[in-house]
Amino acid sequence: MIRVRHIECYPPGSGAPDTAPEPGGAQRDASETGRRKGSGMDEPNRAAASAPPYASQESWELRQSLPDPLPADVIVAANRPRENVASHRSYSYNGWDFDVPPGVFSPGLTSQVVFDRLLDGTIPLAGGRYAVMGCGLGVETVIAAKRGAREVYALDLHPESVRNTTAHYKRLAGEHSGTRLIPITSDLFDRFPESGEVDVVTFNPPAVKEAVSDDPDIVRNMCVGSGVVTRFFDQIAERDLLAPGGEVDVVISNTSELRKITGHALDLGFSLETAHSQGWDGSDVRTYLFRLRR
Ligand SMILES: C[S@@+](CC[C@H](N)C(=O)[O-])C[C@H]1O[C@@H](n2cnc3c(N)ncnc32)[C@H](O)[C@@H]1O
Repeated sequence: MIRVRHIECYPPGSGAPDTAPEPGGAQRDASETGRRKGSGMDEPNRAAASAPPYASQESWELRQSLPDPLPADVIVAANRPRENVASHRSYSYNGWDFDVPPGVFSPGLTSQVVFDRLLDGTIPLAGGRYAVMGCGLGVETVIAAKRGAREVYALDLHPESVRNTTAHYKRLAGEHSGTRLIPITSDLFDRFPESGEVDVVTFNPPAVKEAVSDDPDIVRNMCVGSGVVTRFFDQIAERDLLAPGGEVDVVISNTSELRKITGHALDLGFSLETAHSQGWDGSDVRTYLFRLRR
């Protein structure tokens, strides 16, 4: 069994219990976590190349610089439902009009942080395989067709969101676009094809730390908490879902447990960088679009 350790990558002085990389994570067998699909290399080279790519010191420093979650009352006030989730609504982006049936998430400014970066090419889609986790209305799938993605997996736990995404895609992107849509109703990647691999994954997760409502649709859309994101990273790592050079883009703010979530990803060997960060007028909320690679 070949074990490769890059102990010099650990953050200096990472003594705080929630900041240190898991010792078990740092010493995982290459065969257990570093599996790479179809490399075509001989055995020793493959073992060395597929060792878990431990996160760099820069990634740990970024993670340690992230702010604490805002106080509970501030989080609840910042996430007051903007509209009645049980009603029929509408949404427009980039000249496209979307229907928002009851229960389906109506995109907000955080969603737009991702949409804008898909549309302007900051998150690269052309010719690639893309998975949008938690597709909601499906705005990302329409952008992906415009940007020339080869395949788009649209995943959501909520069947009506997946149906809605498919309908919007057909109407706005056209059935004859060069992009293939693969809609999947699934709890995270549970029902994703076993051997599937993608170049880009995006997720605007319902990671708000406080229960802002007891309505199950609002909870699913907004405030499941950190666990949904840490499980998402676990599945990407365990299933080796990301193609070499691929990226995961996740948008979260200080209404969530930023250090807990990003620390979990770093323990799994992801690297972390900020693709975009912004504050909002009159609010203490700071939103980050993180780019993670493995
Ligand atoms: C904040 S909304 C984002 C929707 C859309 N991507 C956007 O940015 O406007 C979160 C979405 O994640 C979905 N979701 C929640 N938990 C999920 C899970 N375990 N697996 C898949 N999707 C989930 C919700 O149904 C919802 O559509």
